[in-house]
Amino acid sequence: MARRSASPIVTIDGPSGSGKGTISRAVARHVGWHLLDSGALYRLVALAGLAAGAASEDQQRHAELAARMDVSFGSDPGGGERVWLDGRDVTGEIRSEAAGQGASRVAAWPGVRAALLERQRAFARPPGLVADGRDMGTVVFPGADLKIFLTATPEERALRRHKQLKDKGSDVSLPALSREIAERDLRDQTRQIAPLRPAPDACLIDSTRLEVGAVVARVLELMAARRLWR
Ligand code: DC
Repeated sequence: MARRSASPIVTIDGPSGSGKGTISRAVARHVGWHLLDSGALYRLVALAGLAAGAASEDQQRHAELAARMDVSFGSDPGGGERVWLDGRDVTGEIRSEAAGQGASRVAAWPGVRAALLERQRAFARPPGLVADGRDMGTVVFPGADLKIFLTATPEERALRRHKQLKDKGSDVSLPALSREIAERDLRDQTRQIAPLRPAPDACLIDSTRLEVGAVVARVLELMAARRLWR
């Protein structure tokens, strides 16, 4: 039997709209492990840049903000997640398409990625970590105990994002969203540093035709097979 590490790590990478966030959160909650939503950190860098009035192409200023920003994740009495940036509640702002687009832009800059590396690794604490992102299994936690790469067709991902935004009261057109998703995919996959791609040892899960519960069950099964849980 494989020895259980004191602080095991499961990485869940994939493109936007593949369901990583939902699945990672559900898995972490189920097994009682910590959660790293690394996309939130890139979104926060974009918001910190806006708040500081940084020029949108100023890589060095954004890298400095990434290193210095004061971030805290918490929850409200109803159990909803809350995020603070330099003491300001940015829970709503962080999920906007503008923050997502800004995140994708700053995420292509080496200085910003380097500034966030140790901050991300610090999330690895007992009893374990589920890390959600684009390069969790390839760059941030290359020695992770289990690596998942979650995909879904671009059409399905656009539909999911559309529903998510609509539920929050945002009225974004589906064709516009599909275009944005395609642009963001291309930028995330073709950037020089830490491009979005599965680690060679990642398990691929296509969630296009799967309910959330079925994907969570598959991840838990893979964790159990590696004696990471149960
Ligand atoms: O997962 P998300 O939509 O919150 O991520 C926002 C952007 O951040 C995404 O377009 C790419 C970038 N990102 C990244 O480059 N590396 C990560 N580990 C997570 C997100």
